[in-house]
Amino acid sequence: MARSPQWHHLVLLLLLSLCVLLLYCHSNASLPASLAASRNPIPDGPRLLPDPRPPPAAGAPNFALLIKVLAFNRLDSLSRCLRSLAAADYLSDTVHLHVYIDHFGNGSGDAGSSLDAARRILDFVDGFEWGFGEKRVHYRTANAGLQAQWLEAWWPSSDDEFAFIVEDDLEVSPLFYKFVKSVIWNFYYNATNFSPMIYGVTLQRPRFVPGKHGNKLQVDGRSQVFLYQLVGTWGQILFPKHWKEFRRWYDYHKAKGIKPILEGMVTTGWYRRLGEKIWTPWFIKFIHDRGYFNIYTNFLQERALSVSHRDTGVNYGKTAGPDSHLLNEVPHDFNLLKMQPLSNLKWYDFCFREVLRGRVVRNFNDLGVVLDTVQINETIVFVSLFGLQEIIVRNMLCHFERLNIRNYILMGPTSNLLFDLARRGHPVIDADQFLDSVGANKLKRPQNSSPELIKNVMTSTYAIKKCLELKYNAWVVDANMLFPNGGMLQALTDSTFDLYAVKSLALIFVRSSSAVRKLWLDNFVHAIEAGDSLWDKLSISRENSNFADIAASFLESKRVRVKRIDDRSLGVNIGTSSVERASPGLENKVLYWSPDAALDIIRKRLEELKMWTLDGDDSCSAVVCHQS
Ligand SMILES: *[C@@H]1O[C@H](CO)[C@@H](O)[C@H](O)[C@H]1NC(C)=O
Ligand SMILES: *[C@@H]1O[C@H](CO)[C@@H](O)[C@H](O)[C@H]1NC(C)=O
Ligand SMILES: *[C@@H]1O[C@H](CO)[C@@H](O)[C@H](O)[C@H]1NC(C)=O
Repeated sequence: MARSPQWHHLVLLLLLSLCVLLLYCHSNASLPASLAASRNPIPDGPRLLPDPRPPPAAGAPNFALLIKVLAFNRLDSLSRCLRSLAAADYLSDTVHLHVYIDHFGNGSGDAGSSLDAARRILDFVDGFEWGFGEKRVHYRTANAGLQAQWLEAWWPSSDDEFAFIVEDDLEVSPLFYKFVKSVIWNFYYNATNFSPMIYGVTLQRPRFVPGKHGNKLQVDGRSQVFLYQLVGTWGQILFPKHWKEFRRWYDYHKAKGIKPILEGMVTTGWYRRLGEKIWTPWFIKFIHDRGYFNIYTNFLQERALSVSHRDTGVNYGKTAGPDSHLLNEVPHDFNLLKMQPLSNLKWYDFCFREVLRGRVVRNFNDLGVVLDTVQINETIVFVSLFGLQEIIVRNMLCHFERLNIRNYILMGPTSNLLFDLARRGHPVIDADQFLDSVGANKLKRPQNSSPELIKNVMTSTYAIKKCLELKYNAWVVDANMLFPNGGMLQALTDSTFDLYAVKSLALIFVRSSSAVRKLWLDNFVHAIEAGDSLWDKLSISRENSNFADIAASFLESKRVRVKRIDDRSLGVNIGTSSVERASPGLENKVLYWSPDAALDIIRKRLEELKMWTLDGDDSCSAVVCHQS
């Protein structure tokens, strides 16, 4: 009477295909979530994709904001802080107040006066009335310090619990809660405006750029709310999932003795000076690793919903006073509670450079728009990711960041990596969908050729087609190449030749001359589509060829001025030989290696050359800002 196993298989198959269908349909609408849906939980150490879970149910029946006040020995500050919190409008919601009072240290001189100060703080907090929910006081037995005060203030009890962490020298606006609730309603509970990349909202005024020596931040007056990677400790509200993820990441790195060093950041200087007294360098490193963002307000005239009085303490040797104006009354020049759709907001990185997220080309016609945003000097660098390890691709991109190479677009098969790169602001071509859009996936593949090679060749051919239509020059490079001095990837201005190809390397420069344009658009694309006959005519190896070789051979056969460069004069294969960092002319060469080369050898060679740019989590080890 048991159902036959075949029946089970059928149901399973049906379910499976339904899943695939759903994933596929969904992936057209929004990107990373769909593909990542089946991924394992985020590991505590090395980075992977963000938590793809959709936002909690709308209506938010269990929404709660906890206020966590971190106090020490500053009675005047604390009383100002608590008074301002008590004066806020909580819309008849229940809001609990938790006060964490740190203990004085044993090195703090006269025990009598320390005890006295502690008693006065405790008496004050005991007498303080909180009418909006529970008031809970946590009085420590030993000095925990600011880092532990922050990190231990909260372990979320649900995905609907948020925390507002308030250092005692803050003062908040009576409007703060109404604003925070509107923000959370709009950017967390409304699925249209939800992003798993947003970790919180800060009420402090945006002030500085950590990747540019802490320079003052300039933001235009157009948007009242924007996204910025930097944490804003003077009024930070934290989202539960990201906070838990951070705590576990911190544990992992602490336990392994890994320090939160992120070169190029002013906050790393703080860490070198203050060490474990502060927590922000840890959080900043984590955010950089995961590529998360914080919601900031931009109310102009230095107005903010929370200000720090910057009283004497860990952060300030002597009282500095507030540097913003508290927005105490409903402003007349803008609507504080009116929220924008997420798609209207701008995203900024640690250099305060705008991050253009989600540039995924899935369609031949859409490519033009992205090429326009990417080109510099009418030249575009197409980077082929086919068959290459993720870590190699990430190293190359960090290298590009250092050299300020920005006119690139990545081409690769549909993958989590591709979507992770796109949401971090790298433009990508999803080769599978891109080829579908031109019908190329239906073409017959030349016999004995690897599917990967053909996909690579086809994608490059069509990408350059669009490029030439727009009269841009193109480089095509592989991600297993590095250009010590990015200068090589500028447009070749010597127009003696229309096409430069490096022998045996998948490296080519295609000039947008009228001859090349005509041949590419009229002949080459068709020849590629024809498959076998082209390969036979050009007698190109089906196993050992690459796109550069095919394009160069074809155009040569049509009498285009092609320059074949000897790879020995230009390239250095670091997979087979080690290279001195000081060897002459190295900066103008191409370093390359076979995709089959052992990764640990490549990594060692690149480390010797100071071109390994990743940290232990495979994130860029530095933030490098350039003039924009
Ligand atoms: C405080 O006292 C404890 C126990 O006497 C000791 O282990 C610790 O090192 C002292 N800390 C400081 C900062 O002096
Ligand atoms: C969710 O956000 C969208 C876009 O901003 C908006 O049109 C819609 O009204 C919002 N839904 C709710 C329930 O507020
Ligand atoms: C663009 O061209 C100008 C002038 O030829 C040159 O100075 C500059 O370096 C080029 N920029 C890039 C990124 O190639």
